[in-house]
Amino acid sequence: MKKTVLLIVLSLILSLSLLFSSVSFAFGPEGDSSENIIKYRQYVMTAISNHFKALKFLATGRISQPDQWLPHARSMVDMANMIETAFPPESDFGDTEAKEAIWENKGDFNQKALKLIKASEAMVKLIEANERDKALEQIKVISNTCKACHKKYREL
Ligand code: HEC
Repeated sequence: MKKTVLLIVLSLILSLSLLFSSVSFAFGPEGDSSENIIKYRQYVMTAISNHFKALKFLATGRISQPDQWLPHARSMVDMANMIETAFPPESDFGDTEAKEAIWENKGDFNQKALKLIKASEAMVKLIEANERDKALEQIKVISNTCKACHKKYREL
């Protein structure tokens, strides 16, 4: 008898904890604080920036690691794909350089993120085709996509 009671109590605890874990999972990202969303997107942006700087070092011949161009360019594509979701509504206040204009023109902002994605994808293709001279020119194309977005949407 005592064993049965214990089993019931144990299974109750187990099902309750499962219930709560699934509930907190279901609410997921909506529970993220604005402060953490801002920090996280700045880490993503810094990651893009660092891959880009490393790629510039390679493309301008300051570092000779021919096999490392591709992983940096691919990482830029992956990171740039995170930009659109990194600026959810209600993340416009706090320690951020993001301008209010982003949320007033989210469609245009996403288009500017897409330009960086496309320019980085083109970079991947050029490196894969071993077109190193054209890859050096593509650095400028990428740089212009950064500037176009920052000019309109980032406090400098
Ligand atoms: C679609 C728009 C967009 C594009 C494209 C973009 N950025 Fe940004 N970037 C932003 C915004 C907005 C911020 C400010 C984020 C904040 O403070 O919340 C930012 C912030 C940054 C920061 C500062 C991060 C920090 O720690 O505060 C760096 C560095 C940066 N970007 C580099 C780049 C580089 C390099 C590129 C191109 C390879 C690029 N960005 C492309 C919108 C963009």
